[in-house]
Amino acid sequence: MRGSFLIVMEVTNNYIKFEGVRVPYGVHTVESLNYAWKEFETRDDDVFNVTYPKSGTTWLQEILSLIYSNGDPTPVKTTFSWDRVPWLEQHSGRKQLENRPSPRLITTHVPFHMFPQTFFKTKAKVIYTIRNPKDVCVSLYYFSKIAQFMEYREDFQDFVALFLSEDIIFGRWFEHVKGWLTVKDNPNVLILSYEDMLKDPKANVIKICQFLGKELNDAAIDSVVEHSSFQAMKTNPMSNYSAVPNEYFDKEKGTFHRKGIAGDHKNHFTPDQEVEFEKIYKDCMKDFNISFD
Ligand code: A3P
Repeated sequence: MRGSFLIVMEVTNNYIKFEGVRVPYGVHTVESLNYAWKEFETRDDDVFNVTYPKSGTTWLQEILSLIYSNGDPTPVKTTFSWDRVPWLEQHSGRKQLENRPSPRLITTHVPFHMFPQTFFKTKAKVIYTIRNPKDVCVSLYYFSKIAQFMEYREDFQDFVALFLSEDIIFGRWFEHVKGWLTVKDNPNVLILSYEDMLKDPKANVIKICQFLGKELNDAAIDSVVEHSSFQAMKTNPMSNYSAVPNEYFDKEKGTFHRKGIAGDHKNHFTPDQEVEFEKIYKDCMKDFNISFD
Protein backbone atom coordinates (compact mmCIF):
# COMPACT_ATOMS: atom_id res chain seq x y z
CA MET A 1 0.00 0.00 0.00
CA ARG A 2 3.05 2.30 0.22
CA GLY A 3 2.47 4.99 -2.35
CA SER A 4 1.39 8.51 -2.87
CA PHE A 5 -2.35 7.97 -2.79
CA LEU A 6 -3.84 9.31 0.40
CA ILE A 7 -7.17 7.87 1.44
CA VAL A 8 -9.15 9.74 4.08
CA MET A 9 -12.37 7.79 3.97
CA GLU A 10 -14.03 9.12 7.07
CA VAL A 11 -13.78 11.20 10.17
CA THR A 12 -16.65 9.76 12.18
CA ASN A 13 -17.36 8.47 15.66
CA ASN A 14 -14.08 9.93 16.90
CA TYR A 15 -12.02 8.02 14.34
CA ILE A 16 -10.11 8.85 11.17
CA LYS A 17 -9.56 6.26 8.52
CA PHE A 18 -6.19 6.96 6.96
CA GLU A 19 -4.57 4.67 4.40
CA GLY A 20 -7.13 2.03 5.34
CA VAL A 21 -6.26 2.22 9.05
CA ARG A 22 -8.55 3.53 11.79
CA VAL A 23 -6.99 5.76 14.45
CA PRO A 24 -8.55 7.87 17.22
CA TYR A 25 -9.37 11.38 16.00
CA GLY A 26 -8.24 14.39 18.02
CA VAL A 27 -5.02 13.00 19.35
CA HIS A 28 -4.33 12.19 15.67
CA THR A 29 -5.27 14.42 12.76
CA VAL A 30 -4.94 14.00 9.01
CA GLU A 31 -2.18 16.62 9.19
CA SER A 32 -0.26 14.75 11.91
CA LEU A 33 -0.53 11.40 10.12
CA ASN A 34 0.63 12.98 6.89
CA TYR A 35 3.50 14.63 8.73
CA ALA A 36 4.65 11.27 10.10
CA TRP A 37 4.38 9.52 6.77
CA LYS A 38 5.44 12.09 4.23
CA GLU A 39 7.18 15.04 5.86
CA PHE A 40 9.12 13.71 8.83
CA GLU A 41 12.85 13.99 8.17
CA THR A 42 14.53 10.94 9.69
CA ARG A 43 18.02 11.50 11.09
CA ASP A 44 20.75 8.85 11.11
CA ASP A 45 20.74 8.63 14.88
CA ASP A 46 16.95 8.46 15.39
CA VAL A 47 15.70 5.49 17.37
CA PHE A 48 12.08 4.39 16.84
CA ASN A 49 10.14 2.41 19.41
CA VAL A 50 7.50 0.75 17.23
CA THR A 51 4.64 -1.42 18.50
CA TYR A 52 1.13 -2.55 17.93
CA PRO A 53 -0.91 -1.06 20.85
CA LYS A 54 -0.58 -2.85 24.20
CA SER A 55 2.57 -4.73 23.24
CA GLY A 56 5.04 -3.03 25.57
CA THR A 57 5.29 0.50 24.14
CA THR A 58 5.52 2.26 27.50
CA TRP A 59 7.99 -0.32 28.77
CA LEU A 60 10.31 0.35 25.83
CA GLN A 61 9.93 4.11 26.34
CA GLU A 62 11.27 3.60 29.85
CA ILE A 63 14.08 1.26 28.83
CA LEU A 64 15.25 3.59 26.05
CA SER A 65 15.14 6.64 28.32
CA LEU A 66 17.23 4.81 30.91
CA ILE A 67 19.73 3.47 28.39
CA TYR A 68 20.31 6.97 27.00
CA SER A 69 20.81 8.35 30.55
CA ASN A 70 23.33 5.55 31.23
CA GLY A 71 21.05 4.11 33.91
CA ASP A 72 20.47 7.42 35.71
CA PRO A 73 16.77 7.36 36.77
CA THR A 74 16.49 11.17 36.96
CA PRO A 75 14.85 11.63 33.52
CA VAL A 76 12.25 8.91 34.08
CA LYS A 77 11.45 10.38 37.49
CA THR A 78 11.14 13.97 36.36
CA THR A 79 9.83 13.97 32.77
CA PHE A 80 6.67 12.45 31.34
CA SER A 81 7.22 9.46 29.07
CA TRP A 82 5.51 11.26 26.18
CA ASP A 83 8.03 14.10 26.46
CA ARG A 84 11.04 11.78 26.70
CA VAL A 85 10.07 9.47 23.85
CA PRO A 86 7.38 11.43 21.97
CA TRP A 87 4.75 10.06 19.65
CA LEU A 88 5.49 10.55 15.98
CA GLU A 89 1.97 10.42 14.55
CA GLN A 90 0.08 12.34 17.22
CA HIS A 91 -0.91 15.98 16.78
CA SER A 92 2.02 17.05 18.98
CA GLY A 93 4.52 15.07 16.86
CA ARG A 94 5.80 17.89 14.68
CA LYS A 95 6.23 20.30 17.59
CA GLN A 96 7.90 17.70 19.79
CA LEU A 97 10.29 16.31 17.21
CA GLU A 98 11.21 18.97 14.69
CA ASN A 99 13.80 20.89 16.72
CA ARG A 100 14.64 18.19 19.21
CA PRO A 101 18.36 17.59 19.71
CA SER A 102 19.76 14.26 18.53
CA PRO A 103 19.60 11.44 19.29
CA ARG A 104 15.81 11.48 19.19
CA LEU A 105 13.90 8.63 20.83
CA ILE A 106 10.55 8.32 19.07
CA THR A 107 7.44 6.23 19.73
CA THR A 108 4.96 5.08 17.11
CA HIS A 109 2.15 2.62 16.47
CA VAL A 110 2.00 3.23 12.73
CA PRO A 111 1.83 0.18 10.48
CA PHE A 112 4.78 -0.35 8.19
CA HIS A 113 3.08 1.24 5.16
CA MET A 114 2.56 4.50 7.09
CA PHE A 115 6.10 4.74 8.47
CA PRO A 116 8.27 7.77 7.53
CA GLN A 117 9.45 7.27 3.99
CA THR A 118 12.76 8.99 4.75
CA PHE A 119 13.72 6.24 7.22
CA PHE A 120 14.88 3.94 4.46
CA LYS A 121 17.56 6.38 3.30
CA THR A 122 19.18 6.66 6.73
CA LYS A 123 20.99 4.63 9.38
CA ALA A 124 18.20 5.22 11.90
CA LYS A 125 17.06 2.25 13.99
CA VAL A 126 13.74 0.60 14.72
CA ILE A 127 12.90 -1.60 17.68
CA TYR A 128 9.66 -3.50 17.09
CA THR A 129 8.16 -5.36 20.05
CA ILE A 130 5.71 -8.20 19.54
CA ARG A 131 3.31 -9.58 22.16
CA ASN A 132 0.96 -12.56 22.10
CA PRO A 133 -2.10 -11.19 20.27
CA LYS A 134 -4.51 -12.85 22.69
CA ASP A 135 -2.90 -10.96 25.59
CA VAL A 136 -2.84 -7.81 23.46
CA CYS A 137 -6.58 -8.27 22.95
CA VAL A 138 -7.20 -8.63 26.70
CA SER A 139 -5.02 -5.63 27.50
CA LEU A 140 -6.75 -3.51 24.85
CA TYR A 141 -10.16 -4.56 26.19
CA TYR A 142 -9.32 -3.14 29.61
CA PHE A 143 -7.61 -0.10 28.09
CA SER A 144 -10.73 0.66 26.06
CA LYS A 145 -12.65 0.88 29.35
CA ILE A 146 -10.44 3.69 30.61
CA ALA A 147 -9.49 5.41 27.34
CA GLN A 148 -12.43 7.66 26.55
CA PHE A 149 -11.37 7.99 22.90
CA MET A 150 -11.68 4.24 22.26
CA GLU A 151 -14.61 2.16 21.14
CA TYR A 152 -15.68 -0.09 23.99
CA ARG A 153 -17.59 -3.37 24.17
CA GLU A 154 -18.81 -4.40 27.60
CA ASP A 155 -18.88 -8.03 26.58
CA PHE A 156 -15.42 -9.51 26.07
CA GLN A 157 -16.70 -11.83 23.32
CA ASP A 158 -17.89 -8.77 21.41
CA PHE A 159 -14.55 -7.09 21.96
CA VAL A 160 -12.71 -10.09 20.47
CA ALA A 161 -14.86 -9.70 17.35
CA LEU A 162 -13.89 -6.00 17.18
CA PHE A 163 -10.22 -6.89 17.72
CA LEU A 164 -10.34 -9.31 14.81
CA SER A 165 -12.01 -6.77 12.52
CA GLU A 166 -10.49 -4.01 10.46
CA ASP A 167 -12.22 -1.46 12.69
CA ILE A 168 -9.73 -1.98 15.49
CA ILE A 169 -7.33 0.93 16.04
CA PHE A 170 -4.12 0.80 13.99
CA GLY A 171 -5.52 -2.08 11.96
CA ARG A 172 -5.46 -5.76 12.77
CA TRP A 173 -2.57 -7.19 14.80
CA PHE A 174 -1.85 -9.71 12.06
CA GLU A 175 -1.27 -7.17 9.30
CA HIS A 176 0.67 -4.85 11.59
CA VAL A 177 3.07 -7.59 12.70
CA LYS A 178 3.43 -9.08 9.21
CA GLY A 179 4.17 -5.65 7.76
CA TRP A 180 6.98 -5.05 10.21
CA LEU A 181 8.34 -8.58 9.93
CA THR A 182 9.09 -7.91 6.25
CA VAL A 183 12.09 -5.87 7.45
CA LYS A 184 13.17 -8.21 10.24
CA ASP A 185 16.49 -8.96 8.51
CA ASN A 186 17.35 -5.29 8.07
CA PRO A 187 20.40 -4.69 10.33
CA ASN A 188 18.77 -1.47 11.54
CA VAL A 189 15.70 -3.32 12.80
CA LEU A 190 15.54 -5.26 16.07
CA ILE A 191 12.53 -7.47 16.79
CA LEU A 192 11.80 -8.05 20.47
CA SER A 193 9.32 -10.29 22.23
CA TYR A 194 7.31 -8.98 25.21
CA GLU A 195 7.20 -12.48 26.68
CA ASP A 196 10.96 -12.90 26.36
CA MET A 197 11.48 -9.54 28.02
CA LEU A 198 9.38 -10.71 30.95
CA LYS A 199 11.43 -13.90 31.21
CA ASP A 200 14.81 -12.21 31.07
CA PRO A 201 14.70 -8.42 31.21
CA LYS A 202 18.46 -8.05 31.72
CA ALA A 203 19.39 -10.12 28.66
CA ASN A 204 16.99 -8.01 26.61
CA VAL A 205 18.39 -4.72 27.90
CA ILE A 206 21.87 -5.96 26.95
CA LYS A 207 20.55 -6.95 23.50
CA ILE A 208 19.04 -3.48 23.02
CA CYS A 209 22.28 -1.80 24.13
CA GLN A 210 24.29 -3.88 21.65
CA PHE A 211 21.86 -3.04 18.85
CA LEU A 212 22.09 0.67 19.64
CA GLY A 213 25.86 0.63 20.13
CA LYS A 214 25.48 1.82 23.72
CA GLU A 215 28.11 0.61 26.16
CA LEU A 216 26.69 0.52 29.67
CA ASN A 217 28.49 -1.02 32.61
CA ASP A 218 26.85 -3.72 34.70
CA ALA A 219 25.57 -1.33 37.38
CA ALA A 220 23.98 0.89 34.73
CA ILE A 221 22.30 -2.11 33.09
CA ASP A 222 20.96 -3.24 36.47
CA SER A 223 19.61 0.25 37.01
CA VAL A 224 17.84 0.19 33.63
CA VAL A 225 16.21 -3.13 34.57
CA GLU A 226 15.26 -1.96 38.06
CA HIS A 227 13.71 1.37 37.03
CA SER A 228 11.83 -0.10 34.07
CA SER A 229 10.27 -2.94 36.07
CA PHE A 230 6.47 -3.20 36.13
CA GLN A 231 6.36 -2.19 39.81
CA ALA A 232 8.66 0.80 39.33
CA MET A 233 6.65 2.02 36.36
CA LYS A 234 3.26 1.40 37.94
CA THR A 235 4.15 3.74 40.80
CA ASN A 236 5.99 6.34 38.72
CA PRO A 237 3.62 9.21 37.89
CA MET A 238 5.88 10.15 34.98
CA SER A 239 5.23 6.77 33.33
CA ASN A 240 1.88 5.46 34.57
CA TYR A 241 -0.41 8.00 32.84
CA SER A 242 -2.01 9.00 36.16
CA ALA A 243 -1.47 12.64 35.15
CA VAL A 244 -3.72 12.33 32.09
CA PRO A 245 -7.02 14.19 32.74
CA ASN A 246 -10.09 12.05 33.43
CA GLU A 247 -11.75 13.25 30.22
CA TYR A 248 -9.17 11.14 28.34
CA PHE A 249 -8.43 8.34 30.84
CA ASP A 250 -11.16 7.51 33.32
CA LYS A 251 -9.07 6.41 36.27
CA GLU A 252 -12.13 5.23 38.16
CA LYS A 253 -12.30 2.38 35.66
CA GLY A 254 -8.77 1.06 35.94
CA THR A 255 -5.07 1.80 35.73
CA PHE A 256 -2.81 1.86 32.69
CA HIS A 257 -0.41 -0.60 34.34
CA ARG A 258 -2.80 -3.46 34.88
CA LYS A 259 -1.09 -6.87 35.28
CA GLY A 260 2.00 -6.86 33.08
CA ILE A 261 2.03 -10.64 32.65
CA ALA A 262 1.97 -13.24 29.87
CA GLY A 263 -0.98 -15.57 29.48
CA ASP A 264 -3.84 -13.51 30.93
CA HIS A 265 -5.87 -14.54 27.89
CA LYS A 266 -6.41 -17.87 29.64
CA ASN A 267 -8.56 -16.02 32.17
CA HIS A 268 -10.68 -14.39 29.47
CA PHE A 269 -11.02 -16.52 26.34
CA THR A 270 -13.54 -19.36 26.43
CA PRO A 271 -12.25 -22.70 25.03
CA ASP A 272 -14.32 -22.07 21.87
CA GLN A 273 -12.83 -18.60 21.46
CA GLU A 274 -9.32 -20.02 21.89
CA VAL A 275 -9.97 -22.55 19.11
CA GLU A 276 -11.46 -19.91 16.82
CA PHE A 277 -8.61 -17.47 17.49
CA GLU A 278 -5.95 -20.12 16.90
CA LYS A 279 -7.57 -21.00 13.60
CA ILE A 280 -7.48 -17.39 12.45
CA TYR A 281 -3.93 -17.01 13.78
CA LYS A 282 -2.67 -20.07 11.90
CA ASP A 283 -4.31 -18.93 8.71
CA CYS A 284 -3.05 -15.33 8.90
CA MET A 285 0.45 -16.17 10.13
CA LYS A 286 1.12 -19.36 8.14
CA ASP A 287 4.14 -17.91 6.34
CA PHE A 288 5.66 -16.47 9.51
CA ASN A 289 7.52 -18.51 12.02
CA ILE A 290 6.47 -16.93 15.29
CA SER A 291 4.73 -18.61 18.17
CA PHE A 292 3.93 -17.82 21.79
CA ASP A 293 4.20 -19.93 24.95
P1 A3P B 1 -1.61 -5.41 30.66
O1 A3P B 1 -2.84 -4.61 30.34
O2 A3P B 1 -1.70 -6.82 30.17
O3 A3P B 1 -1.22 -5.33 32.09
P2 A3P B 1 1.52 -0.46 25.92
O4 A3P B 1 2.53 0.28 26.73
O5 A3P B 1 2.00 -0.93 24.60
O6 A3P B 1 0.23 0.29 25.85
O7 A3P B 1 1.22 -1.81 26.69
C1 A3P B 1 0.56 -1.82 27.94
C2 A3P B 1 0.73 -3.20 28.52
O8 A3P B 1 2.11 -3.37 28.91
C3 A3P B 1 -0.11 -3.37 29.79
O9 A3P B 1 -0.40 -4.76 29.84
C4 A3P B 1 0.89 -2.96 30.85
O10 A3P B 1 0.57 -3.41 32.13
C5 A3P B 1 2.17 -3.62 30.30
N1 A3P B 1 3.40 -3.02 30.84
C6 A3P B 1 3.72 -1.72 30.99
N2 A3P B 1 4.91 -1.58 31.57
C7 A3P B 1 5.38 -2.84 31.80
C8 A3P B 1 6.57 -3.37 32.39
N3 A3P B 1 7.52 -2.58 32.87
N4 A3P B 1 6.70 -4.70 32.44
C9 A3P B 1 5.74 -5.53 31.95
N5 A3P B 1 4.60 -5.08 31.41
C10 A3P B 1 4.41 -3.76 31.31
